[in-house]
Amino acid sequence: MLNLVVLSGAGISAESGLKTFRDAGGLWEGHDVMQVASPEGWAANPKLVLEFYNQRRRAALEAMPNLGHTVLAQLEEDFEVTVITQNVDELHERAGSSKVVHLHGKLSEARSSVDESLIYPLEGKDIQWGDLCDKGSQLRPNIVWFGEMVPMIEVAARITEKADIFIVVGTSMAVYPAASLIDFVRHDVPVYVVDPSTPMIRHNPNITFIRDKATTGLKTVAQELREKFH
Ligand code: APR
Repeated sequence: MLNLVVLSGAGISAESGLKTFRDAGGLWEGHDVMQVASPEGWAANPKLVLEFYNQRRRAALEAMPNLGHTVLAQLEEDFEVTVITQNVDELHERAGSSKVVHLHGKLSEARSSVDESLIYPLEGKDIQWGDLCDKGSQLRPNIVWFGEMVPMIEVAARITEKADIFIVVGTSMAVYPAASLIDFVRHDVPVYVVDPSTPMIRHNPNITFIRDKATTGLKTVAQELREKFH
């Protein structure tokens, strides 16, 4: 089976009712990003940060996977599919994707503020002020904030190097090192970019831009892949 690697962003969850970050009406319009998504913001006002992610967690739990997520899960019938996502919701897994790498963490988990190896499943619960890790530190969301290391980036780069087909869906490609993954794609590999707008990607002859939303755009790509490679 051919290796199909997908890099996804907030846009694939937009049609499930979850806000993206940089679009009109996006999360970063209503919030000061460094206040809610940085170690400095956490140090300055942890209760504000907890409430921001508690709200996002509740919204993600209420949301349902959409056709975009489902199309990628169904492609596992014909391809060896790995989804590398910047998203912290688990709509890919809930749609049935069996191999998902989270670059920026998961809303469903908390972690220690002093030891990043101490991670706790939340089972849908909020993180409360006063919830402590085994080392007595305040629990924080297990989310990668601006200025923090992205622990899974090496794993993701190795997976991307082995891709026979690469799909980019619903990401502005504005955030690094996630956006750099496209540089690990072999030059002879076909790349499909699904986005109603124009992500920051250098054009090259192997890239096909599908200016469409995830639900319909990925259906088009899946059909083309099955015709071409199956
Ligand atoms: N279908 C497909 N793409 C869509 C849709 C849709 N229905 N709606 C919007 N988009 C596209 C937008 O055009 C944009 O290119 O999704 C992209 C969303 O971009 P961002 O809001 O920048 O989200 P993302 O790229 O995932 O952000 C990367 O930044 O804020 C941090 O850590 C956060 O993981 C996040 C990272």
